[in-house]
Amino acid sequence: MSPTLPSVAPASDFDDVYRRAGAPLYGVEPVPELRSLLESGLVAAPGRVLDLGCGDGRNALYVARRGFEVEAVDTAASAIARLQAAAQRENLAIAARVDDVRTLSYPPGRYGLIVANTILDHLERSADDWLVPLITRALAPGGVLFASVFTTRDPGCTGVGRPSATARFVRHYYEPGELARLFAGLTVVRYVEQHLVDKAHGRPHRHQIARLTARKPPERRRRRLSLGRQESR
Ligand SMILES: C[S@@+](CC[C@H](N)C(=O)[O-])C[C@H]1O[C@@H](n2cnc3c(N)ncnc32)[C@H](O)[C@@H]1O
Repeated sequence: MSPTLPSVAPASDFDDVYRRAGAPLYGVEPVPELRSLLESGLVAAPGRVLDLGCGDGRNALYVARRGFEVEAVDTAASAIARLQAAAQRENLAIAARVDDVRTLSYPPGRYGLIVANTILDHLERSADDWLVPLITRALAPGGVLFASVFTTRDPGCTGVGRPSATARFVRHYYEPGELARLFAGLTVVRYVEQHLVDKAHGRPHRHQIARLTARKPPERRRRRLSLGRQESR
């Protein structure tokens, strides 16, 4: 069972970290795996994208530059303000707002892509029970989820090595394989657990991260299945 850490800082304190950073906290480049996903053509514009816990928007900005309409939410007001300013400068279709991913409405079938890059691990472990079905339902048929979480092998969990300066906000480190199992209703396109060196913020530190790209079955297949059922009656 994954540990739920008792001494975590409240998510609201993250705002301070963004404000003090004075520049994009995680840099301006999107997560490389997200870039590869879009370059692969599996998700193609036009389409609606939801970025959960978007931070100051490195991923939302990248996705919007590729022609998607992006909704981006985060509880950190300073991060959202930075993202809004960047979107305005480039005239990008990004609706960024301060909001809590735990209380969002998730309209069914709305999004071609949902990005959840190190946000689920910033929520209570129990949030997965109801958030996973909501995220899955909010994907359009054929839509793709891109999610990353820190694992129990991350220095923030093991205590071995230098943890990230923002490790105090992580509430739930995922067991190896746990993220893929949670989204078992989707078809896995790619699942990796990888080691990375993060030089984007604070002193260079290591992470152990799980990344999932998974797709909701396209409508066509479902229709064929239900036709098959009728024919066999
Ligand atoms: C590790 S950062 C990742 C930021 C962004 N996804 C990225 O990859 O650059 C985690 C983010 O989750 C946000 N966050 C934490 N709890 C949240 C919640 N309940 N609702 C929305 N955002 C939240 C934090 O403010 C922070 O920006």
